[in-house]
Amino acid sequence: MEALNHSGRLYVPSLPTLWPRMLMARVRPGAHPPFASPNVRYFYFARNAVWLTVKMLGLDAGEVLMPAYHHGVEVEALVDAGATPRFYRVGKHWDVDVEDVARRVGPKTKALYLIHYAGFPGPVAAMRRLADQHGIPLIEDCALSLLSSDGAVPLGTTGDVGIFCLYKTLPVPNGGALVVNGPRQYSLPEPPAPPLASTFSHTASALLQNLELRGGAVGRGLRRLVRALGRGTVRAASIERVATGTQHFDRRHVDLGMSPLTRRIALAQDLDGIVEARRRNYFFLLGRLRDVSPPLFNQLPPGACPLFYPLVVHDKAEMMARLHARGIDAIDFWRRFHPACDPAEFPEVAQLRRDIIEVPCHQDLSPEVMADVAQAVREAVTADHRTRKRAG
Ligand SMILES: Cc1ncc(COP(=O)(O)O)c(C=O)c1O
Repeated sequence: MEALNHSGRLYVPSLPTLWPRMLMARVRPGAHPPFASPNVRYFYFARNAVWLTVKMLGLDAGEVLMPAYHHGVEVEALVDAGATPRFYRVGKHWDVDVEDVARRVGPKTKALYLIHYAGFPGPVAAMRRLADQHGIPLIEDCALSLLSSDGAVPLGTTGDVGIFCLYKTLPVPNGGALVVNGPRQYSLPEPPAPPLASTFSHTASALLQNLELRGGAVGRGLRRLVRALGRGTVRAASIERVATGTQHFDRRHVDLGMSPLTRRIALAQDLDGIVEARRRNYFFLLGRLRDVSPPLFNQLPPGACPLFYPLVVHDKAEMMARLHARGIDAIDFWRRFHPACDPAEFPEVAQLRRDIIEVPCHQDLSPEVMADVAQAVREAVTADHRTRKRAG
């Protein structure tokens, strides 16, 4: 695979694309959570699962201890459902400070909330012990960690609930999941399927990105055309396209379920192959970049399925502009704190928010493409070093 578009430029999308054969492929039993979990409900988004968790566990009049390093939408969902977030410290290597969590547990604390960052396992066993000591539930947020394990323990299976997002790791049009672990059964309503137009539009766009990835000028042109047509049709029929990956929680979508097509595409994937490809790509970047940019992690824990390569930079805007100019869809990772969390109290997290960008390492990127990505990132980083040196 070339991943060069018609102008000969590299094209590296941030998310995996949808290959047409995946629509036809044989569905297999999913061996990873949430697919293999006996007690699971699927939604349009992971944020819906956060909202429902608060209601289901009766946390709506209580406080939940959450990490100061968060996306923001999970905090919004929790607040919308009626709970109050309190925040704990995370260190500059994404290390959750369990002692700080323990210090902050108080009489009003009704649950602990752990986020596994980009496939890197957090201290789930220690958080489990702490939750048990206080007789409160543990919420394990794996929105960025689908298919990831801590050694032999799949993420999302230790908490009272595990929350997953499907569309960040797999080429599916939507999808989030709530897994309830343990013997207790909750009767959760089956959410209604989302509007077909919405599923269709996301699916078409992932297919067209695939065409572009494979090097087609046709793909690129088609993508523009379909986008324009799609917008017109959606407006004309006043159908709502429910965007995924958005920054804010919207109560109007809280009941929206996952499309049947998502399930089909997800179960047609070679899930172990995806973990392998992501690990291979991650290691490749680690090996090629560590001498120019000190890595956030020096290794990849066994079983971890990285969502992206976290690149530590000095100037996000500058570096993203350089990478975008090279055709790499690098993303600004978690710039903002939720307004309920005071940045002054968490300087390491504030620093992380200034410093980290996502470099894609997903399953669609072949070793040849990764070599080009690594080269482009090296050049961008060294150009940045030079500029800063000149500036004094
Ligand atoms: C940690 C975390 N939890 C939950 C979510 C919500 O995911 P979704 O976009 O599927 O609602 C996100 C989104 O990025 C997230 O980063």
